[in-house]
Amino acid sequence: MTRVFSGIQPTGDVHLGNVLGAMVRWVDEQHRAESLYCVVDLHALTIPQDPAELRRSSLRLAQILLAVGLDPEICTLFVQSHVHEHAELAWIMQCTAAHGELSRMTQFKDKSARAGFVSAGLFTYPALMAADILLYDADEVPVGDDQRQHVELTRDLAERFNARYGATFTVPRATFPASGARVMDLQDPTSKMSKSAASTAGTILLLDEPKAIEKKIKRAVTDNDADVRFDVAAKPGVSNLLSILGACTGRSPEDAAAGYEQYGPLKSDAAAAVIELLEPIQARFRELEADPAETLRLLAIGANKASERAAATLARARDALGLLERG
Ligand code: TYM
Repeated sequence: MTRVFSGIQPTGDVHLGNVLGAMVRWVDEQHRAESLYCVVDLHALTIPQDPAELRRSSLRLAQILLAVGLDPEICTLFVQSHVHEHAELAWIMQCTAAHGELSRMTQFKDKSARAGFVSAGLFTYPALMAADILLYDADEVPVGDDQRQHVELTRDLAERFNARYGATFTVPRATFPASGARVMDLQDPTSKMSKSAASTAGTILLLDEPKAIEKKIKRAVTDNDADVRFDVAAKPGVSNLLSILGACTGRSPEDAAAGYEQYGPLKSDAAAAVIELLEPIQARFRELEADPAETLRLLAIGANKASERAAATLARARDALGLLERG
């Protein structure tokens, strides 16, 4: 059976890009493949965090994932730091990666240019991400387009390790959605929608009220002609709305363009589709929020399941490397 692994950081608020680029597919994948999904709190430490806020956002993110539809009876949902093998294999991956290839990661270049304090962890972050994926022998990694380079690096590291030390890791591949792999900022449709945007006017948050969603989409930047077609280079704003509408309604952005002559109706329909997708998730989240102990219980079950597999893979890697067994 195909095995799937993916992760999301508990920093900032979950936005529509996370939902369409990753989460809604995770919900589908859990029925098709053996799936593991992870709240990657160790990745969040690459940037200084407020401890109380980190604890709160990790729990909240797990509740959001349950609200979106992950079923802990079907998939494995857990918190990265609960399974210590992630940090241990990450060290091995840091020793497998070359300094030069980590320097070429575009996300590191972007983030380090903006960060006041550039931790060594921010630089080696992709080695931890590789460890996450390789620990579970994942075949597929459903992600948004911004993680493409990190998954490519994971493949390179797995292949390099296997060539040096013998077949140890499964070489994974990234998978992307047909629509929504790169949801763009509504105010600046040439930049991706992100948790760290300067203003939230261009970012639809998963917990935004319907009125706020309508307002943000109505004010989305488009262009001066009124031609509705999917053309990312010439019409980035309109194309983004078509991707969003397509992703929310299970169509390609080209198909979603059919029948529109003006931007007004496209915006109204895109807003309605987003609200229809997010409202039930928000309602379910409010219920789960009321019972943190239950979420912690579910996460502990997930961590136990994940640990078993992670321990087996790490033992294989230790053996391949020649680390002395403990007598
Ligand atoms: P993170 O937490 O930034 O984002 C979580 C997921 O959301 C996707 N995403 C988007 N998709 C479409 N449009 C956007 N504007 C958009 N913004 C974010 C991301 O591609 C991602 O799939 N390094 C990862 C977390 C991670 C991980 C892993 C992922 C750690 N270990 C192992 C996969 C496998 C990250 O920071 O994602």
